[in-house]
Amino acid sequence: MRVLITGAAGLLGRQAAKEYTARGFDVYALNKKELDISIYTSIKMAHINIRPHLVINCAAFTNVDRAETEKEEAFTINGLGPRLLAAACRRHNSTLVQISTDHVFNGQSKSPYLISDPPDPVNLYGASKLMGEQGVRESGCRYYIIRTSWLFGPGGKNFACAILKLARENSAIKVVNDQQGCPTYAPDLARGIADLVQTGIHGAYHYTNTGATSKYDFARKIIDTAGLKTEVEPCRTSQFPRPARRPACSVLNPFPIQHVLGYTPPTWEDAVEKMGKELKAPVVT
Ligand SMILES: NC(=O)c1ccc[n+]([C@@H]2O[C@H](COP(=O)([O-])OP(=O)(O)OC[C@H]3O[C@@H](n4cnc5c(N)ncnc54)[C@H](OP(=O)(O)O)[C@@H]3O)[C@@H](O)[C@H]2O)c1
Repeated sequence: MRVLITGAAGLLGRQAAKEYTARGFDVYALNKKELDISIYTSIKMAHINIRPHLVINCAAFTNVDRAETEKEEAFTINGLGPRLLAAACRRHNSTLVQISTDHVFNGQSKSPYLISDPPDPVNLYGASKLMGEQGVRESGCRYYIIRTSWLFGPGGKNFACAILKLARENSAIKVVNDQQGCPTYAPDLARGIADLVQTGIHGAYHYTNTGATSKYDFARKIIDTAGLKTEVEPCRTSQFPRPARRPACSVLNPFPIQHVLGYTPPTWEDAVEKMGKELKAPVVT
């Protein structure tokens, strides 16, 4: 089975390529230069050359703050791109996995968001990702839409790596304690995607590591696991104004993914420990 992975140089793209390669699939992991998801001819050529059975779209415009000012680019990549991929999948009878985000919700809910809850994007990044979801749903292709949140993993730009860098360079750091969500370890998500696709039970899902936390407690766990002594001071989101709003509480209710997978994803604490071990492990070349 041939698997095409877009955005393969990114955090999730790298892990998805690793997971599918380990499972023995024919993996075509393409970076932005090799396949630009906002250009239909680029997608068509990839389909003609590779003839994939499965397309995993890990490509996205992921800079949440920049999306507020670079609106057109964000909507072209996150909104139009998935629609174009879905059209090609429909035409060539391949299955599409589209990754989406907790930012499609406004973060005001007191209870975890269900897959059936009405979206209300908290910022323009969320609005652009919601447009991408809609394009996939309307396309008529076979799809999985998988919303995730607080993605982290070894390498690349993500919260865990940013916290580790800050903690190594400073004796004390401040982290917001009024944002709640679910961390998601990219290798766990990659495994979840591959397991879900194997079931053939298409549709929309939420996948995160199990358990919710605050950014503050998440940072503390990352720092403790790395054996660093950096002090972590709690602060409020209002003390760090950013161009894009962040959801105050974007905990995603996992139902029904555990039922479909037949297992519960690892807890976020276990996931942080796994990352700690991976970062300490010697690099094998
Ligand atoms: N990171 C999170 O916390 C988070 C949370 C929830 C959901 N998600 C979603 O999870 C998915 C994976 O995110 P990630 O953290 O792995 O993102 P990432 O590390 O930023 O990777 C995204 C990749 O897409 C590439 N890309 C950008 N525009 C493209 C285009 N037009 N065509 C092809 N490739 C393009 C980027 O290349 P350049 O770097 O060269 O632009 C980058 O390599 C995305 O759908 C994202 O929206 C992420």
